[in-house]
Amino acid sequence: MEPNDRLKELVRQKYSEIALQDKTTNESSCCGSGCCSTEVYNIMTDDYSRLEGYNPDADLGLGCGLPTQFAKIDKGDVVIDLGSGAGNDCFIARMETAETGKVIGIDFTPAMIDKARTNAEKRGYNNVEFRQGDIEKIPVTADAAARVVGAALVAAPVTDEAAAPVVGATVVAAPAARVAAA
Ligand SMILES: C[S@@+](CC[C@H](N)C(=O)[O-])C[C@H]1O[C@@H](n2cnc3c(N)ncnc32)[C@H](O)[C@@H]1O
Repeated sequence: MEPNDRLKELVRQKYSEIALQDKTTNESSCCGSGCCSTEVYNIMTDDYSRLEGYNPDADLGLGCGLPTQFAKIDKGDVVIDLGSGAGNDCFIARMETAETGKVIGIDFTPAMIDKARTNAEKRGYNNVEFRQGDIEKIPVTADAAARVVGAALVAAPVTDEAAAPVVGATVVAAPAARVAAA
């Protein structure tokens, strides 16, 4: 296996573990995002709880930088969230796009996709969907998005093709789209 693929597999394994924990367990776990962890995951602890659309089931303590707050999302926009986890940023974004818009969450960890879909189904959301895929090859049609957001994508910057996620985001972004990464 190539070093890039090995690294991604390691990241995927860690996020699979985190996906199976709730926020409290995650924060107190040594492989989670809380204060006792020495892993890089512990840089992510932004408070999302006051944002409209906040869904506690989707908040695994991984939120970082509140990217949707900088994307200036309008009603009717198609928004793509790169590294969507359990749907935390997507559920905030769907409030801003309203029913006339749509949010597509992309994540390469199957357990995160499962959790995000369960969260969306439980609440009957029909303007958000989750697709499993790598942000270096985003599974969305070119020019589809008015807004692209992403938070704390630890696998992305260390690959040989460090620019791949940026290029991917550019491809899926429509002309004049806004990209907000935290
Ligand atoms: C910090 S977490 C989730 C953040 C999420 N926005 C939140 O607030 O909970 C980052 C997510 O990115 C995913 N991820 C990391 N590298 C990725 C890649 N190359 N392609 C797709 N997903 C990736 C992980 O599986 C993880 O679910």
